[in-house]
Amino acid sequence: MKDTEQIAEKIRRFIELEEEIYAPVSSLDFHSSDSDSSLSAPSEVDNNITSGKATSDNSEPSMSMDEQLNACTTLDELRALCEKAEVLKTDLENTRLVFGKGNPEADLMLIGEAPGAKEDAQGEPFVGASGQLLTKILAAIKIERKDIYIANILKHRPPDNRNPKPEERARSLPFLERQIDIIKPKLILCLGLVSAQTLLESTQPLKELRGTFHTYRTDYQLTVTYHPAALLRNKHLKRDTWADIQQLRARYDEIGAKPLLPSL
Ligand code: URA
Repeated sequence: MKDTEQIAEKIRRFIELEEEIYAPVSSLDFHSSDSDSSLSAPSEVDNNITSGKATSDNSEPSMSMDEQLNACTTLDELRALCEKAEVLKTDLENTRLVFGKGNPEADLMLIGEAPGAKEDAQGEPFVGASGQLLTKILAAIKIERKDIYIANILKHRPPDNRNPKPEERARSLPFLERQIDIIKPKLILCLGLVSAQTLLESTQPLKELRGTFHTYRTDYQLTVTYHPAALLRNKHLKRDTWADIQQLRARYDEIGAKPLLPSL
């Protein structure tokens, strides 16, 4: 199978799975850009998605999306590709890329859902209220944000803080997977249901996905906890989150991940 067919097949399988969780993606097909009226991206860009091209940039017309992604060997190269990738955008106009932030050699990577208004304004993940809570949670297990890497399933803000749509997640996933493969974290922590279900290709509820370590794409150990925004709304989730976070910290030490030194 050619690269473009493989990526189209992967997206098709992903959307099938997502349709089991959410409403069906109405008549989304891989040959027409007109079917998804919720996306305002121009049709040229949609054709790029469906033909496996990552961008509308004409400079690399012969490279498939997979080839362009695989050609990125550093986060800077991947960021540059993301900057011009219309496929990463949502139907909210003029949003800023929130690529991800942290130590490019981190052994722990946290993956949230999607940028909110503050993240969009600053171009950084988790800088709003849930980000502040996240910093405190990490501090409780003696981890500073400078030591880890944080990214989201989506790299652009969806409107009205709505959940990312299945097709948005499917389009963003290859970029996030490449980001993970460049960083090669020993551990991944999914924050919230959207992150966990997307990466694990699961429809299970969060309470069934948390509390254990999953093997993710053969090479990575992945665990799941509640999204900090959920904790802000529901204090009863704190006890389970604390258990998850302590288990994460214990595993970090057990596998001999990089020592975490407090800032002076
Ligand atoms: N919620 C997320 O999932 N990610 C962010 O970056 C901010 C809030």
